Amino acid sequence: MSQLAVDGGAKVRSTPFPRRILVGEEEIDAVMALMNKERSSGGGFDRYGGEHVDAYEREFATYHGMAFATAVSSGTAAVHTALSALRLDITQEVISAPITDPGGVAPILWNNCIPIFADTDQETMNMDPASLEARITPRTKAIIVTHLTGQPAQIDQLQAIARTHGIPLIEDCAQAHAARLNGQLVGTFGDLSAFSLMGGKHHTAGGQGGMVLTNNEELYWNAKRFADRGKPFNSAERKNLFLGMNYRMTELEAVIGRTQLKKLDQVVAKRRALAGMLAQGIADLRSVRLQKIIEGAEPSYWLMLIHIDPAVLRKSKAEFVAACAAEGMPIDLHYDWIAYESPWFRQRANYGQTECPWSCPYYGREVQYEGTCPNARRAIDAHFVIPWHEGYGTQEVQDIVSILHKVEAAYLR
Ligand SMILES: Cc1ncc(COP(=O)(O)O)c(C=O)c1O
Repeated sequence: MSQLAVDGGAKVRSTPFPRRILVGEEEIDAVMALMNKERSSGGGFDRYGGEHVDAYEREFATYHGMAFATAVSSGTAAVHTALSALRLDITQEVISAPITDPGGVAPILWNNCIPIFADTDQETMNMDPASLEARITPRTKAIIVTHLTGQPAQIDQLQAIARTHGIPLIEDCAQAHAARLNGQLVGTFGDLSAFSLMGGKHHTAGGQGGMVLTNNEELYWNAKRFADRGKPFNSAERKNLFLGMNYRMTELEAVIGRTQLKKLDQVVAKRRALAGMLAQGIADLRSVRLQKIIEGAEPSYWLMLIHIDPAVLRKSKAEFVAACAAEGMPIDLHYDWIAYESPWFRQRANYGQTECPWSCPYYGREVQYEGTCPNARRAIDAHFVIPWHEGYGTQEVQDIVSILHKVEAAYLR
């Protein structure tokens, strides 16, 4: 058995893994064309004067087979816009997944609504339908389901529960572009869906951006108005209709996003092929495997979640991960984002020290969060993360496979 790098042995991989390169000739040409248009005739940057944001919205909606898309400035803005399109009242409850980005939860508080967390499935880290059912009350007025790390949540069942109770459902697809369940794209199950187009996502509008999808025309106009300071789109009113944000996407972002959207299928196909190679390469290992993929799911592998069983090892998960890192592979101990464990949430100090909206007399009840999603913590502890992207090749996967074999061989009981 060869000595582990962490104990002074030779590393399996001594060159860094490739960084993700997002920009090709197509993006450069598209941006230059926009710049040249601005230089020669003006009107190139703002969505009111240009063509690209409108075209990007149409193309994104068409890609998903949906009727309406609203382009916004980030994924956080997309969740905020989708939720605000529902025109909720203050202190109404919105059920969310506990493991998600702050940008998926903060919009609930910006609506002065009360977040309630449904626990996760321990194997997938996505929302557990049974827990959702159990946490719905007459106060529940919306549900936000995150498709975490690129694997679809059990969205068919979650959607059926939401429908039975007559509660609108928003899909947060920030991490799951082009993932499918039973052949159907995520983002097409809910009443609304939100996407992040920041630089780390499967396709990007040049570093920041977001998109909201819906088939419901009324929700579409609400979303479009909210994202543009309440402008009276599709209304006889001439002045702004309601409190909104300025979340407009720019032409520069849209021209990049349009170009990137054309590459999305290719990007996802490569990530899936690499995932298949990894699954095959570690099939004989006893301590690690890919996260469970639910039946009918075609994940788009934003991150690679690896399940670890420390019971068969002499070392802890942290020691296993440290040993892998020392061998030269990119690896993170966990995806540890339980929203209610963060200071910004725990301190309830988002509107000064008032503890608004929890303290609001309209709510008139206490809500506690700590420990309410024990499976979320178990799921986080049972997995580690390998950063994953389409710039990897056979060599990178082979090196990861070799490293996992080497570390398991050294640490197996
Ligand atoms: C699930 C989820 N929701 C929302 C967001 C927020 O997106 P953005 O960073 O584009 O605001 C992210 C960002 O990674 C995310 O992963």
